[in-house]
Amino acid sequence: MPNTLILLFHSDYAASNANRALCKAVAELPGISVVDMQALYSDGVIDVDAEVARLLAADRIVLQFPVQWYSTPPLLKTWQDAVLTRMFYLAYEDEGRLLAGKPVLIAATAGNVPEAYTPTGQNRFSLRDLLRPLEATAHRCGLAWQEPFLIYGARKADAETLRLAGEHYAGRISRLPRSIPELVQ
Ligand SMILES: Cc1cc2nc3c(=O)[nH]c(=O)nc-3n(C[C@H](O)[C@H](O)[C@H](O)COP(=O)(O)O)c2cc1C
Repeated sequence: MPNTLILLFHSDYAASNANRALCKAVAELPGISVVDMQALYSDGVIDVDAEVARLLAADRIVLQFPVQWYSTPPLLKTWQDAVLTRMFYLAYEDEGRLLAGKPVLIAATAGNVPEAYTPTGQNRFSLRDLLRPLEATAHRCGLAWQEPFLIYGARKADAETLRLAGEHYAGRISRLPRSIPELVQ
């Protein structure tokens, strides 16, 4: 049974509509663990030993978050700076190398509608393009990038839309490969 780790980064989960629905839809899937990173690290100080161990124990990694200013919530960047820097720049042989080939899925919710994420729309660039820094990071870390799971109009989505989104999310997570062998060194 592959072990799937969902790291949830939400600055105000108590007020969440979409991310809450997504978490609820996958919580009971076999082998899933969802970690509310904001609840765990409300002071912004990450327990790097614990988070390295969590990544090493996972077969598949999901980073779930609401889009904030065309990017990730700040705690996700803090996590990258603390955890990935140690694994890939300071302890590559013992830690970073061991992540090679593990699939990584970005699950991002956006408040705006798809048309806003077009060349003539308000946000000018596609959400897929705005996520390129995460794709570059995954590539740098030898993780197996998966096509992101994206929800638009998330803040105002009704219950039925979120129920369907949750079903799709559960399907995507269930179909993630365990690892991509050619990336394993
Ligand atoms: C500080 C902040 C910045 C935001 N920036 C964006 C943005 O750049 N693009 C966008 O589509 N939505 C943006 N939003 C809206 C959130 O992405 C949206 O409310 C969220 O995905 C809804 O998910 P939730 O119901 O789980 O909170 C922003 C929200 C906040 C609080």
